[in-house]
Parts: sequence; C-alpha cells; structure tokens
Amino acid sequence: MTAARAKYLKDYTVPPFLVDEVELVFELNGEQTIVTSTAQYKRNGQNNADLVLNGEHQKLLQVSLDGQVLAQEKYQLTEETLTLTELPEQFTLTIKSQIDPVNNTALEGLYLSAGAYCTQCEAEGFRRITYYQDRPDVLAKFTTHIIADRKNFPYLLSNGNKVSEAELEDGRSKVTWFDPYKKPCYLFALVAGDFDVLRDVYTTKNGRNVTLELFVDKGNLKRAPHAMTSLKQAMAWDESRFNLEYDLDIYMIVAVDFFNMGAMENKGLNVFNSKCVLADSDSATDNDYLSIESIVGHEYFHNWTGNRVTCRDWFQLSLKEGLTVFRDQEFSMDLGSRAVNRIQQVKVMREHQFAEDASPMSHPIRPESVIEMNNFYTVTVYDKGAEVIRMMHSILGEDRFQQGMQLYFSRHDGQAVTCDDFVAAMEDASGVDLTQFRLWYSQSGTPVVEVEEAYLAAENKLKLTIKQSNPPTADQKIKQPLHIPINIAFFNTAGEAIDVSGGAEQVVNLTEAEQTFEFSTEVKPYFSLLRDFSAPVKLVYQYSDDALACLIPAESSQYTKWELMQNLYIKHITQGIKDSSYQYPSIICDILAALIQDASTDKALLAEILKVPSFASIMETMDTVDVDAVIQARKSLEQFIIKNLNDQLVSCYNKNHAQTYEYHQDAIAKRALANSCLLLLAASDENNDVRTIIETQYQNSDNMTDTLAAMQAASLVGGSLFKDIMQSFDEKWRGDALVMDKWFSVHARCDSEQILQNLDELQNHPDFNWNNPNRVRALIAQFAMFNHSQFHHKSGRGYQYLGRVIERLNTSNPQIAARMITPLIQFKKLDEPRQVLIKAELSRLFELDNLSKDLYEKISKTLDL
Ligand code: TRP
Ligand code: ZN
Repeated sequence: MTAARAKYLKDYTVPPFLVDEVELVFELNGEQTIVTSTAQYKRNGQNNADLVLNGEHQKLLQVSLDGQVLAQEKYQLTEETLTLTELPEQFTLTIKSQIDPVNNTALEGLYLSAGAYCTQCEAEGFRRITYYQDRPDVLAKFTTHIIADRKNFPYLLSNGNKVSEAELEDGRSKVTWFDPYKKPCYLFALVAGDFDVLRDVYTTKNGRNVTLELFVDKGNLKRAPHAMTSLKQAMAWDESRFNLEYDLDIYMIVAVDFFNMGAMENKGLNVFNSKCVLADSDSATDNDYLSIESIVGHEYFHNWTGNRVTCRDWFQLSLKEGLTVFRDQEFSMDLGSRAVNRIQQVKVMREHQFAEDASPMSHPIRPESVIEMNNFYTVTVYDKGAEVIRMMHSILGEDRFQQGMQLYFSRHDGQAVTCDDFVAAMEDASGVDLTQFRLWYSQSGTPVVEVEEAYLAAENKLKLTIKQSNPPTADQKIKQPLHIPINIAFFNTAGEAIDVSGGAEQVVNLTEAEQTFEFSTEVKPYFSLLRDFSAPVKLVYQYSDDALACLIPAESSQYTKWELMQNLYIKHITQGIKDSSYQYPSIICDILAALIQDASTDKALLAEILKVPSFASIMETMDTVDVDAVIQARKSLEQFIIKNLNDQLVSCYNKNHAQTYEYHQDAIAKRALANSCLLLLAASDENNDVRTIIETQYQNSDNMTDTLAAMQAASLVGGSLFKDIMQSFDEKWRGDALVMDKWFSVHARCDSEQILQNLDELQNHPDFNWNNPNRVRALIAQFAMFNHSQFHHKSGRGYQYLGRVIERLNTSNPQIAARMITPLIQFKKLDEPRQVLIKAELSRLFELDNLSKDLYEKISKTLDL
C-alpha cells in the first residue's frame, strides 16, 4: 500500500506559485497518449519555496524551463510528485508525459468509455493527466488542443469556446478550445468520440443566444429530449429565482456509460453518467425522469455555485455541494411536488446521513482531516450540507437569503473561498448573527431533540421544555449546543389551527442545551413539531394516537402529514418488534381509509403514505436491531393493512391506474398511487387476485414505470408469474444495459435462499460488466443495501460475498470499492455475532497487499487501528 497520510484543514497554506495561463496539447493515441502542458508560473508573494507538482500514473518524458530542456538531476521525481527547486520569480514550464487511457479502469483522469475518450478530474484526477498543482485554489485560463484520428473521433471537445479546427494530413484533426474564465484544474474536461447530437438554443433574459448541445451514443437520440428540456428549465429557473444568467456562448453535455458518480460540472462541458441523461417513456421510470431533471439542474447550477465561485481547498467541498444541492432541491420543488420532494430529501437524511453520522466515517459537513478526498463526497457533505443551507434560508427568509447570495457573488466572483466566507456574506447582507449557527459546519453528529409538555390550565399556558443532546461521534467526543430552528403548529382537538401567542405556526430557536418555551392558549392544544423537517435532528417525542388522528388530517403542511404518519407507523412497529403477536391498532387503517376516501388528498402524497417505513428508517429509530424481528414486524403491519383495506386498495388502484401513458404531474401522481396500492397488495400472504392484476399490468403496460412496478410486485408474489415476467423482460431488453440494470436490481433484492448462486449466474449475464459502476451498483449494491434478510444471513455468507466483490474492485476501481463498503462499516446496531462476522471480513480485506488509500481510510477507522 502507498503511504496513507491524512491531510488537515488546519494546515492550509496558500499555494507558493500561481498560474495565469495553461496550454494543453493532447495527442490521443490509445495506450500511448501524449500530453504536453505549458504553464506560466509566478511566485505567490515573497517566498523561496520549491514548486511541488502533483502527478501520478504517467511516464514523464521531458521537462523544459523557459524553453530549456532540463537534465534529470535538475528535478526530483517520486511516485506522486515532481519537484523543481531554485526557481525564478516568473517562468514558463513545459512538461511532456505519456498516459494510458485504455487501461484506466479507475475512471479518474483520462479514460476510454465504450470507445470514447473522456475525463474526470474532480477531486484529484487532473494529476493523472499531467504534472500540476492539483488544488482548487490555483485558478488559470485554459487553452486545449486536441489531436486525434478524424474517423473514429469526429467530435473533439473541451471547455469554453472552440477557436480553431484543422484537418491534418495524416487523417487526424486538431481542434483548439479556449476557456476565458479562470478555473481550477478539477473543472477541466476533454471528450473525444463519435456521437449523435441533440442541438437547441437558449436565449437568456438579456437576449444572448446560447448554443446547447447534448452528445449521446449513436442511436440514443430519442432518449435525449428530456434532459434538454430539463436544461432549459434549469437555465430559466436560475434566472428567475436567483437572478443568475449563463456566461458562455455554448453549453455542452456528454453522456458516457462508464462513470463513477452521477455527473460532473466541468466548465461549459458537463460529463454525465448516461443513466442521468437518457430517458424515454419505454425505458425510463417517472423517478428516472425526475432524477435526470434534478441532476441536469444540479450541474447547471454549479456554473455559479462551484465554478464562478469555487472552493479554497477540498475541506470546503460543502461550500459548493451543499449549496448546489439546496438549489437543485428548490428547482425540483418549484417544478414538481414540494411535499414529495421533501419526503425524498428527509428519507436520504434519516436512512443514510444519520447512519453515516453514527458510523466510523462520521465527519462534519466541513471535514477536518482527510486521507482520500474521494471518500468525502458523502451524504453528510451533500445532503446535510443542503439542510444547513436550508436552515439559513428559513432563518433569513427568501428575500434576505437572496441578498446574501448577491453579496456572496459580488464579493467572491472568480475566487476560491471558504464556507466561512459564505456565512459571512449571509450575515452581512441580513444583519442576522450566525455565530452560533456556524457550529453546524464544524460539529458532526445528529442532535437529539427531546420535547416535554405541560399545560397549566389555571394560567392558560402551554410549556414546552426542549432539550438538545449531541452525543459523541467517532471523530469528535465533545459537542456544544447548536442553533436549532424548530417549526411548530398548534391545533385544537377539532383540528382547527389556533392562535397561540407567537402564532398558530411558528419557529422557535433552540440555542441552549435546555430551554422552556411558553405559549398562551385558552385550550390545551395538539401540536406538531419539527414541521417540514426544519432541522436535521432526531426528534424524541411520543405523540398519542389521538393526537395523530387529529393532526394528520389537520396539518396544512403536506410533508408534515407524511411525517406524522411515519410517527404512527414507527410507534407501533416498535411494539411489533418487541412482541411478534402484537395486534396493530385499528386507528392506523382508519386514518389510511379516510385519506384514501378523501378526494382532496394529494395523490402523490398518498402514494408515499401507503409505503410502510423502510428497514433503514426503522433501524434509524433504534439502538440495537434484531434484523429478523424488524423484517417480521414490517410484514405483519403490511398484512394488517391489506386485510383491513383490501377493497379500498383495489378500488384505489382501479381508479388511478391509467391505460395510456401521459407525462405530467397529475399523471405521475396517479401512477405512483396505483403502483403503491399494487405493491402493498402484492405483499399479501393470501390474496391471489393480485396475480391477475400484476400480469395484466405487465402485459398491457406502455411505459417503464408500470412495467417495473409490475416486475417488483411479481417478485413479491414469486412463483411462475415472476419467472415468466423476468424472462420476458430479459428477452425484450437484453443488450440495453441501462434498462437491464432495473432487471438486475429486482433480482438482487429477491429474498431467496438461492441468492448467492443467483448473483453468480447474473454476473455471467452478457450485459453484466465488472468495470462498469452502474452494473456493479445495480446488482451488488442493491443486494447489500436492500436485501436485508439475505445480506445479513446469520452464516455471514452475505458479508463474505460483498467482501470478495470489494477485494476485486480494490484494484480495478478503488473509488467504487470504497463506496460499496458502506454496509460493512455501518454495523454498530447489529447483534454481536453479526458484528464478529463483519469484522472478520474487514480484517481480511485490511491485509490485502495492494489496499487502496480509499479502503485503507475506511477500514482502519472501522477497526479502530
Ligand atoms: N462534482 C460532482 C457533482 O456533485 C461530483 C462528482 C462527479 C465527483 N464525479 C466525481 C466527485 C468523481 C468525485 C469523483 O456534481
Ligand atoms: Zn455537485
């Protein structure tokens, strides 16, 4: 293993040299690709430091200083650096090296994806392309020349504007791009290949025409329009909500099949995982459509929050990611259902982020130490980061928040800055003191908020005593009280909003470890707490069943109705876990029946309410988990609901299931509702009619949303119906790997004793490919994350299987290997025998000869080494 040393935020120093301009020449030639970089360096202030350039996985061919080729003794070369000493104030450095994109399976730097060259430089991939100060606070203007065979690579793309194009005599072309905006090297991109192109034009609010180009694999043009529409909507939305306009004459998106993450915001040339671009109704579900919309938005919004203003160092990653996630969330919420979007966001927090906070990898949204930066593209930095921005937004209000954004841009456009700079802009523009609030950036862990009530009838007073505790985390023992905004609404027993002192709906600011808030009210009220998930905390408060029965219909916040229903479910599932013969109370079905009956219930919301809480969200509420008891308790709750509501669910299905496909919000909501009913019915132990419904839906479906739902429902009922549907899907879609991912996932989640044999067989399917992260995620991550009974099989075979997969990926793609290990490092709540089995597997992996930094960081923290 290479030396794995941590870097610390506190050790930050400014770069010793700055670069004004850099010119890159790429001669694309398979395994022997040549990169020549020429950069103008100047000392950054008074210093006599050496110039230490980062560079890996390349063969250095030549170094020239101001045009003079340097002899080898004039520089020092290690596996990871090139160091030059005794340098003048200003100089030009030219470096020529050879790289191998063909055998680059790590998918960082320059690599070949299904025949097309592409790059991924964030976070530290540029150092695999050429020797450079690979850090985000070195900003330069890039000129890029690409030379490649014309026939195989008719499109040669890079950042900025194309400035020249020439046909060379040897069958190659040379294209030159210039990006007028200074940028860090992580935003550099190059693409070379043959594509189909969808073209469009967007006219900005100031009347500038921007050329839009979307590059997809040949034959995929019919799956491109949705992403293009999303892009134009994102451009318009950023103008109207944030007053931000696009700044170049061209915006390009390229879809590639081999990609480690979702997409990348390279200046003017986004590179996307094809999964996050391609969609038509035959092959993509409504959720795929919505996720594409949000990711296209996310990368577009980075143009201002990330590119025009970037990060000083990687510890500040949330500066761009938390803020950009907040922006893409608001985009999706303004375009679609606010409540359903909020539900998804909160699920990510509860099911994934809280678990990360409780794990050995716990870190604040601004981490303080890092071994491998790729390990910190996390739900904490992204999603908790967005929650922190959202709290500022709610404390300041939209107007003052937007003034803060304007101040942030006017101060920092063209700079590489810190999270503190962002908060300072918000503070200065609004006059709101955010001193205590800043702790959200430095403190890790999930605060626990406990509420106790007392109604003093004689005084007409409700007292709420609210306590926060901030339990220690793996990375940080001592915590301080945070500024926690808690949104509360008050109702009388008839479900009418009541005007207690301070308002029927209000936000109280908890800033101390314990505080008592008093409200004058003539009746003892019901109240709902932490409405709209006003802070990323665990709320400990037990609503009575009566309170929930009153509050759920009464709540004006659609999201909060769902939240209260979760509360009711979890409360009783907890009983069901303790006692396998627990009788679920009829109030659950009474509330559901009323919601189904009520024509005014938002259908998309009802679709969510009809989902019994997931395994992960139940786990989040418990300290220790008996895997089998949780699975059993969920099942009996489902059986209870189906038994009591069978007819209502069937008629709700019939009312909402549509024969012909349309794509608009109401149609999406109806599909979601019908399919929620279907999946619930399919979970039934006895209902045989559902087989007919499933079969008919599968046969008649004209869209992937209904097809996939039928397939999932069939996997629950099993038998020949399931086999036939899976076979038919395979016959129809074999060869279309993106669509086959859905099929792989349904297989992976099957609760079958044969699952490991099945997985082995599926790995031999012609569409499976170990080097493609989408395939690995579709099959193996789905198994590890969602097949609870089999992954956690008490023999340990599920853990050992995942261990073998990680061992294999450790050398081919360390970034993906490290992402896949999550279910093996979040074991604290499992029983002792399972923990022992997992630790044995982790210890085995830790001994691997060539363990990557990525895995080293996670396993060493987990085993506490
Ligand atoms: N900046 C990208 C985004 O959030 C994230 C990303 C894409 C990334 N590819 C990556 C991060 C590879 C690390 C490595 O939009
Ligand atoms: Zn991002």
